Amino acid sequence: MSDNPMKNKNIPTGINLLHNPVWNKGTGFSEEEREVLKIRGLLPPRVFSESEQALRIMENFKKKPTPLEKYIYLISLQDRNETLFYRILIDHIDEMMPIVYTPTVGEACQKFDQIFRRPRGLYISTKDRGSMKKIIENWPEEKVGIIVVTDGERILGLGDQGTNGMGIPIGKLTLYTACAGVNPNLCLPIMLDVGTNNEDLLKDPLYLGEFHHRLYGEEYDDYIEEFVQAVQEVHPEAIIQFEDFSNRNAFRLLEKYRDRVCSFNDDIQGTASVALSGIYSSLRITKSELRNQRVLFFGAGEAGLGIGSLIVNSLVKDGFDENEARKLCWYVDSRGLVVKDREKITRHKAPFAHDHLFIDTLLDAIHNLKPTILIGASGQPQTFTQDIIEAMTEYNKNPVIFALSNPTSKSECTAEQAYKWSKGKAIFASGSPFDPVEINGKTHVPGQGNNAYVFPGIGLGAIVSESSRITDDMFVAAAQTLSQCVTEEDLEKGRLYPDLTRIREVSSYIARAVAIVAYESDLTENERPKDLLKVIKSHIYEPNYYSYV
Ligand code: NAI
Repeated sequence: MSDNPMKNKNIPTGINLLHNPVWNKGTGFSEEEREVLKIRGLLPPRVFSESEQALRIMENFKKKPTPLEKYIYLISLQDRNETLFYRILIDHIDEMMPIVYTPTVGEACQKFDQIFRRPRGLYISTKDRGSMKKIIENWPEEKVGIIVVTDGERILGLGDQGTNGMGIPIGKLTLYTACAGVNPNLCLPIMLDVGTNNEDLLKDPLYLGEFHHRLYGEEYDDYIEEFVQAVQEVHPEAIIQFEDFSNRNAFRLLEKYRDRVCSFNDDIQGTASVALSGIYSSLRITKSELRNQRVLFFGAGEAGLGIGSLIVNSLVKDGFDENEARKLCWYVDSRGLVVKDREKITRHKAPFAHDHLFIDTLLDAIHNLKPTILIGASGQPQTFTQDIIEAMTEYNKNPVIFALSNPTSKSECTAEQAYKWSKGKAIFASGSPFDPVEINGKTHVPGQGNNAYVFPGIGLGAIVSESSRITDDMFVAAAQTLSQCVTEEDLEKGRLYPDLTRIREVSSYIARAVAIVAYESDLTENERPKDLLKVIKSHIYEPNYYSYV
């Protein structure tokens, strides 16, 4: 056991200590602690070390028959003993990530009201209008570093889950701690219950939210405005991460708040950063440059348009003309190719609506445009059919194909299909994890374009530098840094992202890159420390047991 950095803190005693997940160590309390903290006799006699406890947890975890059971087991550990929970998460991140995050978290949200045990975070409903500040003041922590907030309208690719969507902010914040070491006491998940249009939920007697349809228009905007202002008053230092809002609101909210408060939208900007990083890595394999690519997106929503915009941003930073950069990005949405003369092009698609004949189908668009990169962000499963993959392979020695839709059931194609139909030539990444695939004796390791590679490091960098804003330059810097962390050995196997087991190291580099943007762009009043990486590392939470006596 190391020295307790929190010595002299108000540590609860007796049964309150064992029921407090932040301080509880369960059977890990020493004889002396049991005596002094008045818990002798409240625990079985044998004292276990943290690693012995971890063994027990992992044994039980493996015995759970389904991913959802594993999820419930882990969440109950988080509710009991936060330190041990993070020890397990960090030491087994590749095994735990698909449980605490996509794909299992999707199922957990769909069943959130059935598996609900203990509340976590804040719920703010339409009844709370006029009192949001008071509710935020109910949060027990003095300081908040990062808020992940959702209104539950577009949970992964699963649509409107109402208050059941709370699984997402909770899951994302556990990743801030596990992947970047943001202290869990700085993390606040918030669910904005503005109603739901999911008729099944409105009929579900167990549903935890209010039984009414969603707020719209001015009423909705006023509600969000009160929320943002309340956060500014109570926790002005907190970053607000907008998460899983429908694209009807997401772009507008991002535009409204990005220059006003320290905020970002992970579905738009985080996705863009991780996808751009995957593109940078794939260019290392094909030995070509971004400016020479033609990118075709299938899906022109938050993810697709966010990626396109960041590609443009990155090219402009390199001195490329903005209009020319846009012309490298093409979109097919549910109504076909996005072109200038098409009816009903939304404001956000308009910059990418080029002067071109309308084309109905993705396959014809590929034959016509001959893209080098195909990115699926449509939420439509099995839409990258054999014809599509073969067409991409016809025009490219190594077609870059990303099937980003989540969860796994929504993926545009599987890794196996992409590799098999391209005869092993595709450079592939997906939103949800897929196992390696062997084709003609060569093992291909698909990359998972998981936002968790970037947002935790971005948050950590912004917290450490006390940046007043989160900017697109930070997302480009994160993408470049992430790609630089991919080794030649990774690329050899077709892997576009570093091994997940390196995520804490990677996040600290991303945090450094993000903090540098903050210092260089005058987004903070603080001076850049001499050894920035050292300062960042000193902020990193380690889930070790410290002696309380
Ligand atoms: P969105 O709802 O904003 O956009 C979906 C887009 O797909 C719309 O442009 C829509 O017109 C288009 N679309 C729908 N049906 C189509 C069809 N049959 N053919 C062609 N286009 C069609 O959703 P968002 O936020 O862009 O997310 C899309 C998917 O990407 C989701 O499954 C989500 O889980 C996934 N995603 C993955 C991430 C990652 O892997 N890192 C991060 C964020 C999102």
